[in-house]
Amino acid sequence: MNKALPSYSGPSPERLRRRKDVGVVTACILSILFFLCIRGTAYFNLFNSTPSHAASAVSRCLSLELAPGPSADFHKRKQSDRYVPGTKPYLLKNARIWTGAENGTEVVDADILLDKGLIKGIGHVRQSTLQAYKDDLVVIDVRGSWVTPGIVDLHSHLGDASSPELDGASGDDNSLKGPIQPWLRALDGLNTHDASYELSISGGVTTALVLPGSANAIGGQGFTIKLRKTPERSPTSMLLEPPYQINSSFLETAEHPRWRQMKHACGENPSRVYGFTRMDTIWAFREAYNKAKQIKEAQDAYCVDVRAKNWDALKDKSYPEDLQWEALVDRFSRLDRIQVQVHCYETVDLDDIVRLSNEFQFPIAAFHHAHEAYLVPDTLKKTYGQPPGVAMFATNARYKREAYRGSEFAPRILAENGLRVVMKSDHPVLDSRYLLYEAQQAYVYGLPDNLAIAAVTSTPAEIMGMGHRVGYVKEGWDADLVIWDSHPLALGATPKQVFIDGIPQLETPHVVNKPAAWQQRPRVPNFDKEAADAVKYEGLPPLTPAKSDSGVVLFTNVKSVYKRAGGDVQVAYTSGDADLGVVVVHNGVIACSGGYKSCVTPALLGSAEVVNLQGGSIAPGLATYGSQLGLQEISAESSTIDGYVYDPLLQKVPAVLGGDGALVRAADGLQFGSRDALLAYRGGVTTGIVAPTHRRFYAGLSTSFFTGAPHKLEEGAVIQDVNALHVTVRHFGSIPSISTQIAVLRKLLLEPGEGEAGEWFEEVREGRATLVVEADSADVIATLILLKREVEDEFGSTVKMTITSALEAHILAKEIAEANIGIVQVPARPFPTTWERLRILPGHPLTEYSSLAVLLSHNVTVGIGIEEAWSARNTRFDIGWAAVEAGGFITKEQAIALGSTNVEKLLGGDIDSEDVHDMVVTEGGDLLDFESKVVGVISPRRRTVDLF
Ligand SMILES: *[C@@H]1O[C@H](CO)[C@@H](O)[C@H](O)[C@H]1NC(C)=O
Ligand SMILES: *[C@@H]1O[C@H](CO)[C@@H](O)[C@H](O)[C@H]1NC(C)=O
Ligand SMILES: *[C@@H]1O[C@H](CO)[C@@H](O)[C@H](O)[C@H]1NC(C)=O
Repeated sequence: MNKALPSYSGPSPERLRRRKDVGVVTACILSILFFLCIRGTAYFNLFNSTPSHAASAVSRCLSLELAPGPSADFHKRKQSDRYVPGTKPYLLKNARIWTGAENGTEVVDADILLDKGLIKGIGHVRQSTLQAYKDDLVVIDVRGSWVTPGIVDLHSHLGDASSPELDGASGDDNSLKGPIQPWLRALDGLNTHDASYELSISGGVTTALVLPGSANAIGGQGFTIKLRKTPERSPTSMLLEPPYQINSSFLETAEHPRWRQMKHACGENPSRVYGFTRMDTIWAFREAYNKAKQIKEAQDAYCVDVRAKNWDALKDKSYPEDLQWEALVDRFSRLDRIQVQVHCYETVDLDDIVRLSNEFQFPIAAFHHAHEAYLVPDTLKKTYGQPPGVAMFATNARYKREAYRGSEFAPRILAENGLRVVMKSDHPVLDSRYLLYEAQQAYVYGLPDNLAIAAVTSTPAEIMGMGHRVGYVKEGWDADLVIWDSHPLALGATPKQVFIDGIPQLETPHVVNKPAAWQQRPRVPNFDKEAADAVKYEGLPPLTPAKSDSGVVLFTNVKSVYKRAGGDVQVAYTSGDADLGVVVVHNGVIACSGGYKSCVTPALLGSAEVVNLQGGSIAPGLATYGSQLGLQEISAESSTIDGYVYDPLLQKVPAVLGGDGALVRAADGLQFGSRDALLAYRGGVTTGIVAPTHRRFYAGLSTSFFTGAPHKLEEGAVIQDVNALHVTVRHFGSIPSISTQIAVLRKLLLEPGEGEAGEWFEEVREGRATLVVEADSADVIATLILLKREVEDEFGSTVKMTITSALEAHILAKEIAEANIGIVQVPARPFPTTWERLRILPGHPLTEYSSLAVLLSHNVTVGIGIEEAWSARNTRFDIGWAAVEAGGFITKEQAIALGSTNVEKLLGGDIDSEDVHDMVVTEGGDLLDFESKVVGVISPRRRTVDLF
């Protein structure tokens, strides 16, 4: 367990104490400085004349010799320091336990006994032990369910970065007072009322390292918390093994100093905040470390005198220290007691920090984000001390230059290079409720299963220095466990119960019984070539699709075919398990699907390109909406995006554009061939729908485009020039108010207007064009329903209205259905980022139904969307997950419609013609499964088949 700790070569505190002898004890009694006998006896003779500060000086110098980590007898503890009196003992019977032992490969079928906040026993617990508990013991038969340690998040801002965002707490995780702030502490901003705790626990997260943000080069100290509510209700009571330095009590108590955490950041973030260049940032680091080093050297020199009992020399000198710098100075302790967690993305930055670590001789616990780490594993291995871990997102990349070369294969490649891999949330950047999903994706893209589960449990626990009590299911460890409704690496795995310190966290968990197949580890596709290419092309492997050379393609071993039928999706063909079918495609059009004999002739075999789908599937291409995909390449790089439209509510729209009557078309700003678009294409998303990029109310006219096109003039690149008219009604600070926005919308809908805007609002008013309103608040949605009625009454028309985002729409499901309004929920899995999203319906295990299920049950037409372009590629998992969560209530056809036909029709797409739509070909499973790999697209529009 302690392998990761630096070895300790000095005398142990125990040994020092054993050297006490009777004579010294007598001397102690004589001494007025009684304290010294506990601490100082090994160092000096008490009968010498000693200055009054000698005791603390000796104590200080002694403390420099102490290694961090638990005491040797830590595992003899009978009760956790976090035990809450009154907590009942639990016996979980018949668990299938991923223990974390044996490099994450050990799985045991056993019972688990929890008591006093600890795991008291694993295996067959003796009857006599159980009888001792009498009636107190709560027995739960988990019937073979998977049990893992609680999820451990190595990088969170939970409690410090507020959810929902509020002016009173915006960015309590970043200081703007300077680039070097080692004295700041994330604990000091930790809000106990954040909406995230309950949600993250419901995803199995039990422990998180809460770090300061990345605005500063040295952002301050991080703190490890457990997420459960405490009887005391204070931030302090949530801390796990807080370092004694938080109240400067280490002098008295720190025989075993506790691990401390320090956040560093390099690259774009500190540069942006402080107007720095990379050169400035690294100098800021060197200057700070040099200052800390000088203090440390002064301390060492002082302690040389203390050890030599050279009290005359020390008479007027106090121990050299500085509260502001003590944490950074602690970095220089020979036994380095601070885990430094470095936010650092690119090769240049990683190299800078590795050099810094060698110059000042300190190890690095982990590089975080580190999107280019997989390209330079040997550089990482040159870090001072042991190689750092790497804490990553699975597929969240390309949002800035630093992340542009990010690869979904990074976890696998780093593990192959012997580096420790962690998946992290950066909560609320990613909702840590779904941290396990990051591990699942890493697994899908080639990280071995044992390391994937370890990447969110034991590995982060070790890296934060808490591996002696969390991250494993082991006797004597903290009773932090998750009982899952499926194999933890299966898509949509959801906790049935979560224990923290032995306390069950879910009062009335809603779960579905998943079939036996979901209890197995999912098979995953082979991505060896893609992973090799990621390295070969330094993160930018070619993604342009290749067309089949042949006019005829024969897909064999096809398990199922789904097709579009008007606005719906239907099963066109399913094979028996033994007798898989074929699909024949002529010039991009499916000519035959069914049994081998009914479709395949000898002549066909002579001319066709044959592709074995190994139980794969063919399904309608998916559509994506909600991000700026199609109008950007790198969202944070202004030279790669279309830019923002003018908003007449906020500024004067230039007359040359048409003044207030101007309306912008997204089609005019389309950019093709972005890496996110091509990755989406390779993930089965063939259609992108995008509205003009806007900051406030006014958007303009959306368009739909083909994600696989190289440029706008390629045949079929623009699928539909104009889709719908878009506005947003939201809280935008104080101006313009919600009521102002509604007043404008009412005016635009009811009164004739000028210019192109006037014409399009007339189209909406008459029911010929779709009005898409982005809104979340149920109050705004209710007002929109009334406004729609008002317009329809006035003009005797039927207004086509779709509300997007719509996280509170479930509250008005019935009224929305009656008003015949469609919903595109963005994102598929809701999170209360803002106040107007507070009333989400979180779904299992917290609520019986998800918001998608509630809307569908009222016969509302529902689609799902995304917020950021990188996630377009994951649409197939989003809808697969929605179907899994609904426990059979949403069929596969409905799920596919959620991500294809429904999105298109709700956003003004022309969906009538069946033949012009692309079909996606998957190998090894169907489009919604982790098992499958998208291998091609059948395109009647372009009369061809793309094969990846
Ligand atoms: C741990 O597991 C990984 C992947 O299964 C393997 O490559 C590695 O060698 C193992 N490490 C040890 C120390 O057994
Ligand atoms: C100081 O903090 C440590 C660690 O949390 C705690 O054990 C100790 O009781 C605290 N002491 C005081 C005086 O608050
Ligand atoms: C939804 O539609 C189905 C099928 O048309 C119908 O049976 C059901 O009653 C409808 N549900 C509601 C809440 O209107």
